[in-house]
Amino acid sequence: MSGDLAVQVRGLRKAFEDVVAVDGLDLEVGTGEIMGLVGPDGAGKTTTLRMLCGILLPDAGEVRVAGHDAVRDPEEVKARIGYVPQRFSLHRDLTVNENIAYLADLYTVPPGTWTARREELLEITQMAPFRDRLAAALSGGMRQKLSLICALIHRPQVLLLDEPTTGVDPLSRRDFWQILYDLPRQGVTMLLCTPYMDEAARCNRVAFLHQGQILRQDTPAALRESIHSRIFEVRCRPQHLAREMLKRLPLVEGVEVFGDRLHVTLRPEAAPAEAWRALREAGVGELAPREVEPSLEDVFVAMGGEVENRKSEVGNGEDGESGGTGVSPILPSGEPPPPRTGETPVPPGGK
Ligand SMILES: Nc1ncnc2c1ncn2[C@@H]1O[C@H](COP(=O)(O)OP(=O)(O)OP(=O)(O)O)[C@@H](O)[C@H]1O
Ligand SMILES: [Mg+2]
Repeated sequence: MSGDLAVQVRGLRKAFEDVVAVDGLDLEVGTGEIMGLVGPDGAGKTTTLRMLCGILLPDAGEVRVAGHDAVRDPEEVKARIGYVPQRFSLHRDLTVNENIAYLADLYTVPPGTWTARREELLEITQMAPFRDRLAAALSGGMRQKLSLICALIHRPQVLLLDEPTTGVDPLSRRDFWQILYDLPRQGVTMLLCTPYMDEAARCNRVAFLHQGQILRQDTPAALRESIHSRIFEVRCRPQHLAREMLKRLPLVEGVEVFGDRLHVTLRPEAAPAEAWRALREAGVGELAPREVEPSLEDVFVAMGGEVENRKSEVGNGEDGESGGTGVSPILPSGEPPPPRTGETPVPPGGK
């Protein structure tokens, strides 16, 4: 496997009984690159990251991270990576400083080295004033920053972040990104799962994951350019009626709400006037359709449409409700993810 790659994954597979969470996944991340991993709930993002960390054993496939095999030498991998799990996993009954010290000790970082690093990280995350506060008493955004500090205390080569800013306010998200942006210059490679398309757009490359497989990966610009569907912005009154109607039209690939407007993705061969006529006939007011450049969110919606099409062509689509397995748009909901089994950061073994 190539030395310029910080992460190299081939044919990765993991099933939990009859659920195939990761299904033959191939992925490469170059040194110093920021790679975004996006996909609907249950797509297999967290399972993938956990296998990259060496904390979950794959059923099949090769995983090489920071120059080491995550299956054969998980301890070598763990020593070289930082992991921010999806759910806050640090000790709530320890202070910020104590949590950092605990992690530094687990990673066996010499005290003389990590105290200077801690000060630097507390400074850039603006967490210094809260160093003596219990983790339990931190706000959501502060907790995420603490998780990031702890993941960086041993100067990892590869940082794996699982939805690190979900539920975090926009200002804290901006701070968080300020820190992330600086890391590639220090040679740190990042693989980031995110439900936010604006965050995906900041990555060098983005991989779309669906049912354990990567549907497409490319730069955000190339992904946007790959969209052949046409996207229109329309104002509709009442919006919910228009949305429901549009979703049912065969020429419509997707409909998303953007504030008081709808983004309507039409199939490439569709005649837009047909959609607007159907809405007007149903008594929907306003409209004023305007064609817009596709955003990454639009790419995602279009990809969901492609998957659904493929399913119905193959003829294995279920009747009626999809049962929640189809691609749904990932939108910033502001809602924290549902609770899941706690996961501790992954220091190398021995402690
Ligand atoms: N420990 C487990 N036992 C059984 N099934 C699991 C386990 N972990 C994950 N799964 C299943 O594997 C699939 C992939 O889950 P995973 O957590 O990797 O998805 P995800 O893309 O991270 O989703 P989300 O966006 O909701 O975090 C899901 O169907 C999930 O229910
Ligand atoms: Mg997850």
